[in-house]
Amino acid sequence: MEFHPEALSVANRYKLLIGAIVPRPIAFVSTVSTEGVDNLAPFSFFNGVGSNPMTVLFCPGNQPDGTEKDTLRNCKPIEEGGTGEFVINAAVEAYASAVAAAAEDLAADESEFDLVGLTRKRSQLVRPPRVAESPFALECQTSEVIRTNPGRPGGGNVVLGRVVHVFIRDDLVNDRMHVDPDKLRAIGRMGGLGYTTTRDRFEMPRGRDALAGGPPLAEDD
Ligand SMILES: Cc1cc2nc3c(=O)[nH]c(=O)nc-3n(C[C@H](O)[C@H](O)[C@H](O)COP(=O)(O)O)c2cc1C
Repeated sequence: MEFHPEALSVANRYKLLIGAIVPRPIAFVSTVSTEGVDNLAPFSFFNGVGSNPMTVLFCPGNQPDGTEKDTLRNCKPIEEGGTGEFVINAAVEAYASAVAAAAEDLAADESEFDLVGLTRKRSQLVRPPRVAESPFALECQTSEVIRTNPGRPGGGNVVLGRVVHVFIRDDLVNDRMHVDPDKLRAIGRMGGLGYTTTRDRFEMPRGRDALAGGPPLAEDD
């Protein structure tokens, strides 16, 4: 099948994005509102951007009525009415159900920390607390928000953040800064209600040497 995106409903475009762009890493984002209420929510439209300066992005889409999600309202730059800060916490197997539960649409004056039973830990350089149970946390200052369709349902927003402080649990990383995936136990997002662990992995050399190998074949191949 081939489609022009405009010929698809917005809902079907969304289903193709989340079903075909898989697996996606999950940012478990903590923010604080200008009124001081902290917020925690998962975002799988998430990635690293660059390492000099150390920069990440995540994408809180607009609500069905076109308004901003609490996370975006909280972390957008001060000039746009936000606090300009957020923390990316890990999404890991140990509290996977809390990650999914934090997507609950709470009133702006209620905190998902209390709903999901995770612990607030004071951050070093930004106001939003990090998740104490999280094996790593990136404290970020928002550099910019790029809006693809402001005020409209289905519109996306790219939040670019400069990492100003890194926490990583000692046992997770060696002195060469290699992170042990078996200790991190990150989870990823698939389409629908699907998730993935990071336990089924394989290695390949980089470049032309990779042509000699490949992933192990599934049993029914
Ligand atoms: C694993 C997972 C990943 C999600 N990823 C996104 C995402 O990338 N963008 C988005 O707008 N919403 C995403 N959501 C939905 C938000 O978490 C949900 O709308 C949440 O209520 C937003 O919280 P807030 O209004 O406190 O910011 C995701 C939900 C789950 C469970």
